[in-house]
Amino acid sequence: MFSTAPVVYAVGDEYQIMFYVRCTAYAKVVIGGREFKDSVCGVMRSAKGMRRVRVPRSLLDECGEYTVVTQNLLARVAYNPKIIKTTENKYKFRPVKSGTAVRAFMTGDAHGDIENVIKSAKSFGAFDFLILNGDMPNKCDRVRDFETPHNVAARLTGGEIPAIFAKGNHENRGAAAEIFHNFFPVGSGDTLFYTFRLGGIWGLVLDCGEDKEDDNAEYGGSADFSQYRRQQTEFIKRIIADSENEYEAPGVEHRIVVSHVPFIRDMGKLFTIEEKTFSEWTKLLGTIKPEAIFSAHLHRYEIMRNGSEYARFPSPCPTVVGTFRRDNCLGGSGITFDKDGITVDFTTSEGKTVLSEKI
Ligand SMILES: [Fe+2]
Repeated sequence: MFSTAPVVYAVGDEYQIMFYVRCTAYAKVVIGGREFKDSVCGVMRSAKGMRRVRVPRSLLDECGEYTVVTQNLLARVAYNPKIIKTTENKYKFRPVKSGTAVRAFMTGDAHGDIENVIKSAKSFGAFDFLILNGDMPNKCDRVRDFETPHNVAARLTGGEIPAIFAKGNHENRGAAAEIFHNFFPVGSGDTLFYTFRLGGIWGLVLDCGEDKEDDNAEYGGSADFSQYRRQQTEFIKRIIADSENEYEAPGVEHRIVVSHVPFIRDMGKLFTIEEKTFSEWTKLLGTIKPEAIFSAHLHRYEIMRNGSEYARFPSPCPTVVGTFRRDNCLGGSGITFDKDGITVDFTTSEGKTVLSEKI
């Protein structure tokens, strides 16, 4: 069952506050006396399902709290629909601060295993924002498969700290994959790639799509990722052209990339794809100069530095493959940003920290 608790996703200069509504109801978010209604082309939404309310990041950061208001309807009739019940839920919100050490937790590759994600996060302790880095469900046959990432984010953040979302390859599989973008944060054009800013941290989220060539028989014609990846090449170029409002904006202290698939890495015969596009991404990242690329996908921990035997291209920064999965053990990454750089702690659902290393 979908959690009705909200998740505050950071995208661009806004937060997308997403929550599930179980009945026919209008919804809005109130911050500092300003109302942000869940409407489309002037029409209030009322159908049960996932809702997205976009709010300015600076306003929520400043106010430090928000209220989710739902108004149940007797029926969504054409004339005189009647509100029968109004519910208000207030949430405190703790924004990521600039100029201080910031702790984030990254999970991924859960494949539906919510409880072990929670345990691996507890092994790291308190944190300031969450990164969901793909393959949270095993497939997307039905809308209920979207419950895993949403419910993990709702439980780990309580709607009180921000979250970052990156799509993995398993989120592309099944009949519901084509409506995935309605349930999770999106950039302009409903894409799963975008930039974000949290305090002094700037990030670029990329979506590599599937992990094999589009014409692989496993996809049966359902994959069209090659052009989607080229769209992202153009997106990265636009970011570089607008660097003063992105990674060179005032106050940016750290630059990171989040990508489920570690696209700079050689991953073996079937999976080492898109030589031209991924090499171009890597070259463009040489201009952006991120401190690290945070990935998942391999089900094992690895910090791949430039010159590694697995590196396909000269890399501008290390790739941290920061999720682990074996038998009943799941691991994620605690990420600490401070003025000297970034430290990664690999923490597992068994309560162990298997590595702590400065990037
Ligand atoms: Fe994956």
